[in-house]
Amino acid sequence: MCGIMGYIGEENATEIIISGLEALEYRGYDSAGIAVYSYEDIICKKCIGSPAELKEKTSELYSNIGIGHNRWATHGRADEINAHPHLSQNGIFAVVHNGIIENYEKLKTELMDKGYNFVSETDTEVIAHLIEENYKGDLKGAVSATLPLLEGSYALAILCKDYPDTIVCAKRSSPLFVGTDSNSAYIASDISALTQKSKRIFRLNDGEIGLLTKDSFKVYDTDGCRIKKSEIKIKNIENNINKDGYEHFMLKEIMEQPASIRKTLSEIFDGRKIRFKGLKWSANDIKQINNVHFVACGSAYHAGMVGAYVCTELFKRNSTAEIASEFRYSNPCIDKNTLIVIISQSGETADTLAALRIANEKNAKVISIVNVENSTISLESKNTIFTKAGPEIAVATTKAYSAQLAAIYSLVLYLAVISGELKKIEAVKYIDELKRIPEKIETILNQNIDYKTLSEKILNSEYICFIGRNYEYCTVMEASLKLKEISYIPCEAYAAGELKHGTISLIDKNSLVIALCCSDRLSSKTLSNVNETKARGAEVLTVVTKKISGDIIIPETIEIYYPLLEIIPLQLLAYNTALIKGCEIDKPKNLAKSVTVE
Ligand code: G6P
Repeated sequence: MCGIMGYIGEENATEIIISGLEALEYRGYDSAGIAVYSYEDIICKKCIGSPAELKEKTSELYSNIGIGHNRWATHGRADEINAHPHLSQNGIFAVVHNGIIENYEKLKTELMDKGYNFVSETDTEVIAHLIEENYKGDLKGAVSATLPLLEGSYALAILCKDYPDTIVCAKRSSPLFVGTDSNSAYIASDISALTQKSKRIFRLNDGEIGLLTKDSFKVYDTDGCRIKKSEIKIKNIENNINKDGYEHFMLKEIMEQPASIRKTLSEIFDGRKIRFKGLKWSANDIKQINNVHFVACGSAYHAGMVGAYVCTELFKRNSTAEIASEFRYSNPCIDKNTLIVIISQSGETADTLAALRIANEKNAKVISIVNVENSTISLESKNTIFTKAGPEIAVATTKAYSAQLAAIYSLVLYLAVISGELKKIEAVKYIDELKRIPEKIETILNQNIDYKTLSEKILNSEYICFIGRNYEYCTVMEASLKLKEISYIPCEAYAAGELKHGTISLIDKNSLVIALCCSDRLSSKTLSNVNETKARGAEVLTVVTKKISGDIIIPETIEIYYPLLEIIPLQLLAYNTALIKGCEIDKPKNLAKSVTVE
């Protein structure tokens, strides 16, 4: 959430910063801004919308040093005034910020009492004024004096008119990386914006302050002592951010799912053997696990719901899926015999990271399923399984979600076999079928389904409800989220059996019920619920296997794997609906891909 980019060197900072901001757009795109040092002054330009809009406004702006920002609004509307950078009252400091200053109102009142005027509605502006207030000619000293006053989270890059060759950076809870090369240095919220230019990459830790010049990077701890930083080993950073002929990244990423699942599984399986590199739990450790919590946000939480069902079924332990923002404040009863499975595409989601830290503190067994290497969650987890979805650009996740499911199934099979809950001979059936899933997804992707007509049904309905049971309930949760995210159509997902406990009152001839009915065990139950809605005039759209008649027919599989198959046509349905509506599919309004604030 919010992207920071900074540059100091011998090239045109404006161009480098704007192109960096374009690479970081997935973090927020409601407004953007840049501040550079030029002609002995700090010049600041801002725009509503994406950083591309900044290009025109800055075509004349040449400088060798600057900072920039993509905003995802937390405090104050998405307009030019609230866009970052924010200047101190005397114009000496420019600040860009990712995070939330939780005590900003108190700080603002105190500063106003001292005569500071605020021009924006943001929490960030207090930082610029506080640095001015604490400035006695020493930039690092002013920043060091300011940081302890801030409650909440921040990644900061600061420019000072009196130090035309220096950028200061600092962080607490929000990610920030520094890249260096001969005669240039960069700051970014994400490594991906640094890899092409920087030879050496460093991660700033909480509490550290970094001072960058074009040929030096000095880091100080909270006590002001200089410390030595080790550079991060970068491996496997893919920079393929082309649409490869597809109209949208989302469609490209939907089509990539067979490949990304195969890649994820190929890292885990050696034939039928499951291997998690670095996982050091003995069979006894695994047998001692007595309950499992899958903890995540958004779609990753829906993947966790599947995890909870499959873990209960195969590993035979009480398993739950927990929303990370709830879990972190719930005083969870967890100990060394609890397994916490953290799931995160980005590895940076603030609530998920907080949940991980609680699990670590309480000494639980923890394993994280993460897509981005070197992300905070992966670095703070003792055990990490990396999904191999590659960079996912569309904000609404598709291929990272299905790769998470593939990793979850593999993990649960591993736990079930090692603990002896699932006989090896039985596991073969599950392993072989898991490996066949990518091919079955290909079949669905190549099927001639008239999504346009099906999307019309959605567009012609006043109320849309997705229903399913057990694994299919998890899938409808994800399917309805996809539709909401990209087409802005209000809809909900219900456990099919719950419908009659209230929501059925909404069903009439203007309703559409989208039902998942592939499970051999449960489809007759769900179909009964479908009939109850038909009896009340609802239009129905079903996803089925060839065993029964329905609207979308998908290949058969073992019940636990239907989430991987059933989601595919529903992703395409959401995509086509948004396409017909003319929505901004890859960058839906109000959303951000990496949610680094609470
Ligand atoms: C945001 C994204 C979702 C994602 C969720 C969790 O809301 O838009 O697609 O599922 O965050 O993100 P994570 O990176 O932790 O999987």
